[in-house]
Amino acid sequence: MNATVYTPAYPHPEAIHDIAVLSRDELMFIQLERMKWSLRHAYDNVALYRNRCIEAGVHPDDLCSLSDLARFPTTTKADLRDTYPFGMFAVPQERLARIHGSSGTTGKPIVVGYTHADLDMWAGIVGRSIRAAGGRPGMKLHNAYGYGLFTGGLGMHLGAERMGCTVIPMSGGMTERQVQLIEDFKPQIITVTPSYMLALLDEFRRQGLDPRASSIKYGIFGAEPWTNSMREEIEQAFDMHAVDIYGLSEVVGPGVAQEFIETKDGLHFWEDHFYPEIINPETGVPVTDGEPGELVITSLSKEAFPIVRYRTRDLTRLLPGTMVPAVRRIEKIMARSDDMIILRGVNIFPTQVEAALLHCKWCSAHFQIELTHHGRMDNMTIHVEPRPEAWNPAETSHRSREIIKTIKNTIGVSVQVSVKEPGMIPRSNGKVTRVIDNRAKASSILA
Ligand code: DLL
Repeated sequence: MNATVYTPAYPHPEAIHDIAVLSRDELMFIQLERMKWSLRHAYDNVALYRNRCIEAGVHPDDLCSLSDLARFPTTTKADLRDTYPFGMFAVPQERLARIHGSSGTTGKPIVVGYTHADLDMWAGIVGRSIRAAGGRPGMKLHNAYGYGLFTGGLGMHLGAERMGCTVIPMSGGMTERQVQLIEDFKPQIITVTPSYMLALLDEFRRQGLDPRASSIKYGIFGAEPWTNSMREEIEQAFDMHAVDIYGLSEVVGPGVAQEFIETKDGLHFWEDHFYPEIINPETGVPVTDGEPGELVITSLSKEAFPIVRYRTRDLTRLLPGTMVPAVRRIEKIMARSDDMIILRGVNIFPTQVEAALLHCKWCSAHFQIELTHHGRMDNMTIHVEPRPEAWNPAETSHRSREIIKTIKNTIGVSVQVSVKEPGMIPRSNGKVTRVIDNRAKASSILA
């Protein structure tokens, strides 16, 4: 694609700038120019934004500094659902080059769109992310994110082509074939959810192959929370680097923020196209950098689907840039506010369980949390699997006691543990389902 064909509408102070050489002041200048354009574009072309601004008594002309953004109303997933399918699009339909959406397990999906200039920008930030992860032109990239309405597959594909990689567009599923093609095509890079990487690991072993001898040296993992313990697990198993990529459909897809291979210290947020804020999820008030809270994102350059102060529900904090000093990092995202399990008054995130399990050397990273309700009590059962080489049926009750104790000591709750035979816990084909909530079922039966 020739970048000059699709001249972006947003202000482009330098024809092309390289984020790595910008100072923070230069970046903030670009951000303010683009934010003014983006708010005005949303206000002029999307009724929901215009009405919300009028109700809140603010106008895009009120934005004189970046901190003025906090005066504007936030947007939620419910707004996207309520305007399904195209109510928040800001360009005429014939200017759309692509539509994506979330599969949405319940209710209506959310739908997002891209102009050619949007795709061009997206390719640029995904390409930049692959480079940060260790990718270089000429490398082969095995893309096992799902292709389709989900942004993972086609988003990574676009950026990998822009980077000059050779893309192997595998999509998710057909695990046996994935491993065969990795063996045959010898890609250096893999892009996939971390949970599906574990399913590939099982398959390598099932086929009697040594994963450490595979060609894969760089993995770009995201689309779901994963811990540093899981990183270690994957890096050791495959003798590779595993880095984190973040993004969401409502904002663009993968490539909003990316971890660098050199530092693995959280994700640099591509602030020239997306403006991050952290707010207190209860009060909605912005917190200072370094404080934890909910990530809120405003797009600065998108034409088809500008997004203003989108409440992601993702919990993290903003930290100064390291590899790219001009932009800030977000801390690795360990949880969404709506993933939080409240068990007898204790707040628990599935990643805390993951970290506790991987603390036990015999335990694999395959697990599922089941919630049930008996009488007045909520109960949590953690279904776990030993690593195949550590499987010993005689050890199960001793091992479940070990995990019960570890969870009690680290998270502070009493749980039940069921140790299963290796292979019994359902494997992910994409995003993993960690929590099975049977509480409502039980109470509706009782009601
Ligand atoms: O998951 C986009 C994506 C594809 C990102 C491939 C990275 C790689 P959605 O399906 O809209 O889009 O889901 C977005 O997934 O709000 C987070 O809760 C979660 N998520 C995405 N990346 C990460 C990550 C894609 N690196 C939602 N760590 C987001 C933790 C993540 N959670």
